[in-house]
Amino acid sequence: MSRTFYITTPIYYVNDVPHIGHAYTTLAADVLARYKRMKGYEVFFLTGTDEHGQKVEKAANTAGETPLELADRVVKRFQALWEKLNINYSDFIRTTQERHKKGVSHLFTDLMAKGDIYLGEYEDWYCTPCETFWTETQLIDFKCPDCNRPTEKLKEESFFFRMSKYQEALLAHIEANPEFIQPKSRRNEILSFVREGLRDLSISRTTFQWGIQAPGNDNHVVYVWFDALANYITALGYPETAGKLKDFWPADAQLIGKDILRFHAVYWPTFLMSAGLPLPKRIFAHGWWTVEGQKMSKSLQNVVEPNMLIDKYGVDAIRYFLLREVPFGLDGDFSHSALIHRINSDLANDLGNLLNRSTAMIQKYFGGIVQAPLEMTGIDQGFKAKTEAAVNQVESCLEELAFSKALQSIWEVISAGNKYVDETAPWALAKDPAQKERLGTVIYCVLESQRIVYHLLSPFMPDTAKKGLDYLGWSGAPSEDQLQWGLLRPGTKIIKAEALFPRIEEKGDI
Ligand code: MSP
Repeated sequence: MSRTFYITTPIYYVNDVPHIGHAYTTLAADVLARYKRMKGYEVFFLTGTDEHGQKVEKAANTAGETPLELADRVVKRFQALWEKLNINYSDFIRTTQERHKKGVSHLFTDLMAKGDIYLGEYEDWYCTPCETFWTETQLIDFKCPDCNRPTEKLKEESFFFRMSKYQEALLAHIEANPEFIQPKSRRNEILSFVREGLRDLSISRTTFQWGIQAPGNDNHVVYVWFDALANYITALGYPETAGKLKDFWPADAQLIGKDILRFHAVYWPTFLMSAGLPLPKRIFAHGWWTVEGQKMSKSLQNVVEPNMLIDKYGVDAIRYFLLREVPFGLDGDFSHSALIHRINSDLANDLGNLLNRSTAMIQKYFGGIVQAPLEMTGIDQGFKAKTEAAVNQVESCLEELAFSKALQSIWEVISAGNKYVDETAPWALAKDPAQKERLGTVIYCVLESQRIVYHLLSPFMPDTAKKGLDYLGWSGAPSEDQLQWGLLRPGTKIIKAEALFPRIEEKGDI
């Protein structure tokens, strides 16, 4: 098998419909998956839905449906959105699928056989919206320290996972692998959490029904996080160790939001250690989006619905904005004015304008036919070097999941392209027949740079990249060997580009 790359998103709860927070993680994963595919990796990109647990059961009761009816209905919303957002995943796992349930039962049984699961009694404070138990000292005014909602005291018989046993091993792993939890600030948070000591974890419930039955004990359903986290291996066919599990596990990148870091960076690795499986190479926690400065919430009625945004501004404008506006790992704010500003200045002015003016010039001066570049002067060489440097910058930025920086370095080339046109002034060269060859070379350079730019953009904005490359006379899937300067062939017919991104009126459109 060639080089492989396994990337995952969280699996989304079906008690809520998708919003930009969900779209964000999935989109980031899609960009990385597309980039790695372009670089020749065999990519497995997993997403899905988390369908068990009390939260889903309660939502179904309120809606007058069975939990599965609710899940069947909401899962379609997620899948439709991913299609509309141009998400090219390899597999979509639902925790209600047989393959998953079988894998979870196996994991539970295996950990029990290893002596890491035992039956005990639980008494603590439970926050249903977060599906989390808290000790009394962790509560703030008896409310959940994460979401500030009321908690209830629960006492129940429960299976426990011996998480405490893995404290030292986990600490040693985090310390020895600085890449394991990112960004660094999140890694530090987890380090201090683990150093404070790990308690055994309650991993079953008896107070409701909607979940996977604990193997050998009908009174218990498996705790929703034990169930959900296992998706990352059940989707690869676990417990079957041949096949996908062998090819793709451990995951190369597990992308999550900062709110679910502890589950992924503490619980999940200790389950894996107990199961004797290697730990994921990297868990990356991104920040949260607020909307026009406020927390997104149903009660504030400010939940940003991605479908509406895509209908209004187009899928690639949204893909671009979400990854450009905020460095991955930090919190950010979504505002319509910031979105419109990005579309007008980066997409319409910089990107669209360069394609427009350069494809128009080649029509005017050479009937749309690419000329052979002859002597490259200093200014041409500088521009070429800038384009080539961006190829390496995008590579190293995406290695760090710095999506915004990667886009910034692409935009430096686009700005350099516009500047190059201004400085070489093809319209002036066109007036002098003796400069015909020079004019051909200048136009070659500006088109060739864009051919590389659109390849680099293809993971971020697949439709736009395809359009751009079509105009530049290049058809075919973007691939790594196309990232070199000099592949635009003289004689290629270039088509005059329409505006890729029409400008949006700032007033009255918000
Ligand atoms: N089902 C669990 C995950 C289980 S993974 C084994 C879950 N689901 S969720 O639907 O509530 O959230 C999924 C993801 O959406 C999380 O990574 C969360 O951080 C992200 N976001 C939810 N709201 C968000 C914002 N406002 N901004 C950015 N991301 C946000 O948790």
